[in-house]
Amino acid sequence: MSFDAVVFAGIGKTFADGTQALNDVSFTVAAGEFCVILGPSGSGKSTLLRTVNGLAVPDAGCIVLSGEALTPITLPRLRRRVAMIYQQFALVNRASVAHNVIAGALPATPTLRAVLGLFGAKDKQKACDLLAAVGLAPEHLTRRVSELSGGQQQRVGIARAFMADPTAILADEPVASLDPRTSRDIMTLLRREARERGATVLCSLHQLDLAMEFADRIVALRNGEAIFNGPPSAFTASVETRIYAVDKARAS
Ligand SMILES: Nc1ncnc2c1ncn2[C@@H]1O[C@H](COP(=O)(O)OP(=O)(O)O)[C@@H](O)[C@H]1O
Ligand SMILES: [Mg+2]
Repeated sequence: MSFDAVVFAGIGKTFADGTQALNDVSFTVAAGEFCVILGPSGSGKSTLLRTVNGLAVPDAGCIVLSGEALTPITLPRLRRRVAMIYQQFALVNRASVAHNVIAGALPATPTLRAVLGLFGAKDKQKACDLLAAVGLAPEHLTRRVSELSGGQQQRVGIARAFMADPTAILADEPVASLDPRTSRDIMTLLRREARERGATVLCSLHQLDLAMEFADRIVALRNGEAIFNGPPSAFTASVETRIYAVDKARAS
């Protein structure tokens, strides 16, 4: 049975300085879907993703995660089911690869145990399994993250994200710092692991070609408004023109 993993209903967000980042954004992502949020820089992609784990608080509308509305009361519990992957990887550079991945279990680890660095044997085994799944060899485990290439670092970022068995993954331009070849490898990996683990993915991108290749659903943003919502097969040249057209009012 399929159900709605994430529902955005009338989401609006205006920052304190008056910048309207999101305006009445509504769409639904089905469980297990790979949804690409497509749009140029400044279109509101990061802000939209950040509303799902409470890093940005909408001032209009409602988000429903797996059938439960996100409220100040439900947020602490619901955000444990959501993991994030970042453009700049957001890893601890001086820590080992293994350490970074196992830290992904933190949302599911009692605070005191986590502070003491007490992860169970199960967590350690899982971290090893995930690192193998993302294509890192055992000899990488003890390396510092700073010694890895960008593509390898994002593999670590993906392994870390899956560590807490998230139902949803927020990937904010996960390949924007990588070359085209590595970008495709990382997108392939992210989609494959998400499918295998049944996770829903919200992935922001500014590259149309990657969106067309990897998305089940594309939601295109322009100036904080969703101007397209559908499968890649329905994405036409005229939609593309509308997304990337220079907005004179905003560019000033
Ligand atoms: N903390 C903030 N304060 C004020 N404006 C912000 C803040 N974060 C983002 N914005 C603005 O909101 C708009 C959308 O930003 P963002 O969501 O980061 O877009 P994208 O990720 O698509 O580049 C932009 O105009 C940006 O400058
Ligand atoms: Mg962004």
